[in-house]
Amino acid sequence: MNNSVELKIEGKTYTLPIIIGSQDEKAIDIRTLRNETGYITIDSGYGNTGSCQSSITYIDGEKGILRYRGIPVEVLAEKSTFVETSYLLIYGHLPTKSELSDFSNKLRYHSLIHEDMLHFYDGYPSTAHPMAILSSMVCSLSAYYTDSLDPKDLEQVEHLIPRVLSKLRTIAAYSFKKSIGQPVIYPKNSLSYCENFLHMMFAVPSEPYEINPEAVAALNMLLILHADHEQNCSTSTVRLVGSSDANLFASIAAGVCALWGPKHGGANQSVVEMLVEIEKNGRDVNAALKAAKDKNSTFRLMGFGHRVYKNYDPRAKVIKAACDNLLNKLKKKDPLLDIARKLEEAALSDSYFVERKLFPNVDFYSGIMYRALGIPKNMYTVMFSLGRLPGWIAHWREMHFDNDDRIGRPRQIYTGETLQEYRPIGDRN
Ligand code: CMC
Repeated sequence: MNNSVELKIEGKTYTLPIIIGSQDEKAIDIRTLRNETGYITIDSGYGNTGSCQSSITYIDGEKGILRYRGIPVEVLAEKSTFVETSYLLIYGHLPTKSELSDFSNKLRYHSLIHEDMLHFYDGYPSTAHPMAILSSMVCSLSAYYTDSLDPKDLEQVEHLIPRVLSKLRTIAAYSFKKSIGQPVIYPKNSLSYCENFLHMMFAVPSEPYEINPEAVAALNMLLILHADHEQNCSTSTVRLVGSSDANLFASIAAGVCALWGPKHGGANQSVVEMLVEIEKNGRDVNAALKAAKDKNSTFRLMGFGHRVYKNYDPRAKVIKAACDNLLNKLKKKDPLLDIARKLEEAALSDSYFVERKLFPNVDFYSGIMYRALGIPKNMYTVMFSLGRLPGWIAHWREMHFDNDDRIGRPRQIYTGETLQEYRPIGDRN
């Protein structure tokens, strides 16, 4: 195997090194390209661009493989907890008993947000999307917790990590309470991470609330499955914002905004909206497929397709199987599950989807599980944020401490006007 490639430009030959990852992934290292040749590369959407070397998550999109720190996501979904998986992603190994207990205690300790921040919620209209609230509240944390904002100080960063993980959960649950006009429910630190979230979401001061262990298990599994996905749009955003040495809260807030879009995490809400629409229209899944294939329409089959997976998304496989299970255990029925299954079946036997290798992704069935848990649809992407948070943190931390952390600053090919004269306003037509 060669460890370099040759590039011929204008009769001159340049040698570029090859980098090979631990799973035999290959890259041409072009870091010296512009200096040596005057050329840059163009890769809109970054489909061929490696922005970093990372040891956190491995994906083989052709085979449908996803591993966190080498451990298959299906195994973690079955055996781990979200807190343990978060530790694994951030610190690179499964925690020992004492590491896990220490980490869990820190998450407990930091569960409250500054009381003054509760007033912020009063300023939002009741129609505000919880993602708008979440992103601004997370950024606002940097105004309150000013003692640990230096991204280059490892001690400060370590102090900040459990704070972000714990407080984002509280902010998310409070946003829901505010949106339905109920008083916020303070965290109860005797509860586990997922129990505490369900408690803050669904308890009311006037009645006892019993936490359903099936709901806790389902939530744990969903959060684990969303916990990291290497250099996706929101994680790349967190890295890019973090590369300017912006603090962790600010970088995460930017990630939340990137996730909100319907091509990314916002798809889970759009999927359920689409399924509801199909139900209203007499459950005609073929009409939805037809619209998705129509190049004159902007409609896409939400929850289908992926930049990296050209095979069934392993996360969708687990969630699809878990949907039935959860509905049975909660003794609930959901007509949307039936529609989703029919839609999937029709799409997977349609040449348009087969030729383009479009399969259900993580968002296709997750909304149905959130519905079963009683979570309203405008909170689905908030749930995705909660799940993706350890991944964002792990990448931000890796970028600052393990890796090469130059500021992210892509180039461009300029296609605008060449030198133009400034014409006074009276001379313009
Ligand atoms: N419905 C209909 N056609 C599609 C779809 C879809 N969901 N996804 C891709 N295509 C077509 C697309 O029109 C293109 O066709 P053609 O070759 O004829 O121009 C071809 O498939 C390749 O698509 P692309 O847009 O070049 O693929 P991409 O890698 O740029 O986009 C995607 C990936 C996820 C944005 C896209 O598949 C999509 O918009 N899916 C629906 C939204 C969605 O479910 N997003 C969640 C993604 S997974 C979780 C996450 O990352 O947050």
